[in-house]
This record gives sequence, structure tokens and C-alpha cells, in this order.
Amino acid sequence: MTTENVALVIGASGGIATAVARQLLDDARYSTVFCVSRATTPPAALAGALRLNWLPCSGTAADIAAVRAQLDDAVGRLARVVICSGILHDGDQGPEKSLEQLDPAWMQELFNANSITPMLWLQALAKGLGRKQDCVIAALSARVGSIGDNRLGGWYGYRASKAALNMLLQTAAVELARRAPGTKLIAFHPGTTDTPLSKPFQSGVPEGKLFSPDFVAGRLLAIMDAARADGTLSYLDWDGQTITW
Ligand SMILES: NC(=O)c1ccc[n+]([C@@H]2O[C@H](COP(=O)([O-])OP(=O)(O)OC[C@H]3O[C@@H](n4cnc5c(N)ncnc54)[C@H](OP(=O)(O)O)[C@@H]3O)[C@@H](O)[C@H]2O)c1
Repeated sequence: MTTENVALVIGASGGIATAVARQLLDDARYSTVFCVSRATTPPAALAGALRLNWLPCSGTAADIAAVRAQLDDAVGRLARVVICSGILHDGDQGPEKSLEQLDPAWMQELFNANSITPMLWLQALAKGLGRKQDCVIAALSARVGSIGDNRLGGWYGYRASKAALNMLLQTAAVELARRAPGTKLIAFHPGTTDTPLSKPFQSGVPEGKLFSPDFVAGRLLAIMDAARADGTLSYLDWDGQTITW
């Protein structure tokens, strides 16, 4: 990898994303770290960083196309892409405990943020990925998106939207193996991480199992460094262990 490589973080104002962006900015291998966010300005931890290019984006298809145009030829030098977008709760809405709690509007919001937004970004970037370019793209998934691992039940919408993300990514991996064979896709489970997303659900987490965003960002970036393009999607946890589909 040369210093001409660039990195991109999407959903960049979140807890894990900010830590990922900070570590990428501290890594001299990347000449620019592009950060896409619904927020108009970077969080304090990133503000003023050299080599940071903050790109506000509402997340509509039109806005994604406009930001993609600003990225321009940088897409051909992308070495790392981390897609962090995701929601678990919002105001009164949160994970369902029973069938009676299923709400179509909330399920659509979950699918929009957790499954569709990441894929709109993959769609926007795919065209610019060169055939010889080595690029590792990780999307933040979750272990609860595993069908085989689902013994506890509950969390219908979040589980299903992450399972859908995994299927969409696997489908893209098959296509990219032909179109951009140097691209590696990873669906990443960070473990329970201390961010606003997990805040309401942290009380039952065993001691030592609530990770800091910094720890998780380091694990993810190390896993991405070690990854090699093989035409498949890897579904990995923070420890680099494969999760069953
Ligand atoms: N924290 C955990 O324990 C945990 C566990 C398993 C998986 N994950 C996954 O890790 C990812 C990052 O989560 P986090 O813990 O860092 O949470 P977070 O701090 O709440 O960040 C989530 C990010 O998602 C974006 N986002 C929020 N609402 C959105 C919406 N309606 N549409 C599109 N994007 C939206 C935001 O990006 P912008 O506002 O910057 O655009 C936000 O920065 C998520 O995909 C989450 O599902 C987290």
C-alpha cells in the first residue's frame, strides 16, 4: 500500500465510526480520510484533523449521488471503506420482545438504516473500484443477524435487518468477484460496544465484555489489514472468529 491510498467512513459521527476514523487519521498510509455523515460538522474527537475530509450527506439516493460525485477519482484509490450506519432504537421505538410489538413503520426504518443505506453506498462506490485495486470494505453487521445463532428470539426488526444486510453483502461479493476482484467484503460484529446504540442494553453485559469504541476500531482495522480478496463475504466478530450464517 502507498501513501496515495484513501479511506472512507460512512455514518461517521457514531461511536464506533469516530474511533475508526481517528485511527485511520493517525495512520500515515492514508493520504485522506473521507467521512460521510448526516451531521454537518465532525465530532470533537475529529475536529480540525489534518487529512480529514468531512462530507455531510442526508442519506437520500440523490444526496448519496452528489457526495459520490465529490469523491470523484478518490474512489479509484480507496483501500479501506467502513460502513457504520445502523440503528437499534430511536425515541419510543426499540427492539421488539413479542410479535404483538411488530410495527411496520419502525421495521421499515430499521431496514432503511441497517440494510438499504449500506447497500446504496456499495452501489455508489462499485462503479469506481478498479479491477486491479485492493480494497477492503467492512459493513457493521451484528451477531444477532445470524439465523443459526438465534436461540434467544426477540429483536425481530434489528435481527432481520442485519440478516438482510448479510445476504445483500454476500450477493454483492459474488458480483464484485467478477467486476472488482481485488475487493474484499466483511460483515463485522463489534461485540457489545459502549456507544449510544447499546446504552439502554448494557446492564446485562458480563464484566469485561463491554468494549470501548477504540478497542473495537483497532480490532476491525487489524482484521481488514489481514484480509485478502477471495470473492467471498466474511462474517467475522471482533476476535476475527467466523460467525455462522
Ligand atoms: N454498539 C454495539 O454494541 C453494536 C453491536 C453490534 C453491532 N453494532 C453496529 O455497529 C454500527 C455502529 O453503531 P454504534 O454502536 O457506533 O452506534 P451509534 O453511535 O449510534 O452510531 C450509529 C451511526 O449510524 C448512523 N445512523 C443513525 N441513524 C441512522 C439512520 N436513521 N439512517 C442512517 N444512518 C443512521 C449515524 O451516522 P451519521 O449520523 O454520522 O450519519 C451514526 O453515527 C451499527 O451498524 C450497529 O448496528 C453495534
